[in-house]
Amino acid sequence: MNLGFLGGTGIEGKGLSLRFAAAGIPVVIGSRSLERAAAAAEQCNALTRGNAARGMVNREMLACSDLVFLTVPFDRAATAVIEVREHLKRGTILVDVSVPVMFRQGRIEFVAQEGVSNSEAIARHVPEGVEIVAAFKTLPAHILADLSETLHCDDFVCGDSNAAKETACEAMRMIPSLRPLDAGPLESARAVERMAALAIALNRRYKKKGARFLAVGI
Ligand SMILES: NC(=O)c1ccc[n+]([C@@H]2O[C@H](COP(=O)([O-])OP(=O)(O)OC[C@H]3O[C@@H](n4cnc5c(N)ncnc54)[C@H](OP(=O)(O)O)[C@@H]3O)[C@@H](O)[C@H]2O)c1
Repeated sequence: MNLGFLGGTGIEGKGLSLRFAAAGIPVVIGSRSLERAAAAAEQCNALTRGNAARGMVNREMLACSDLVFLTVPFDRAATAVIEVREHLKRGTILVDVSVPVMFRQGRIEFVAQEGVSNSEAIARHVPEGVEIVAAFKTLPAHILADLSETLHCDDFVCGDSNAAKETACEAMRMIPSLRPLDAGPLESARAVERMAALAIALNRRYKKKGARFLAVGI
């Protein structure tokens, strides 16, 4: 399975690609700029002391990836998908990690999308034959980006295709101390996005940076 990252040059994309590369999985970091993609891949390879990462422009990354993580800012994710629509191959699984929160005057603001999750809003722009899965919403990016941090948490995976969810979970299980949990249909992303906002609020309240979730009893 080839893993790609659309807009993989930000902290979330770098953190995720680093975790997969450290687990020995080849990753392709995508960007609108080849230079930025190459620099992020070089950084990933240096941190993992390997050569699992390559950098490409987004459309080339899409041509050689089966599981694509959408790691652009939440309010630009739909536009980013529309821009690369024609390059999305049939059978691609698109993993949306977006959390619709903004920070205004030091306060967290949850930006609801007409009653649906950001993932469902993005799904409207995904061409037929491409499945969308929501994951990695409640894991802080800087924790992913620091390999000295043990994740020791669960991650909630939502989607309307069981096969697509299972493929995403299979890849996620390669990351040590991370347990993917099937959280139901894509609609469940509404709750998961709120949970991500809660984690941010907990970090603020307790002056921490790594709040994340572990479901007991499963
Ligand atoms: N920060 C966290 O702790 C955290 C946790 C969970 C989920 N998330 C989610 O992760 C996603 C990425 O967050 P981030 O902080 O890494 O974002 P970011 O650094 O602001 O942006 C990531 C990359 O997106 C690309 N990009 C920006 N605008 C674009 C556009 N209009 N079209 C195409 N690509 C564009 C840029 O890559 P190029 O310029 O190189 O193309 C940029 O480096 C967000 O949806 C966020 O909600 C974040």
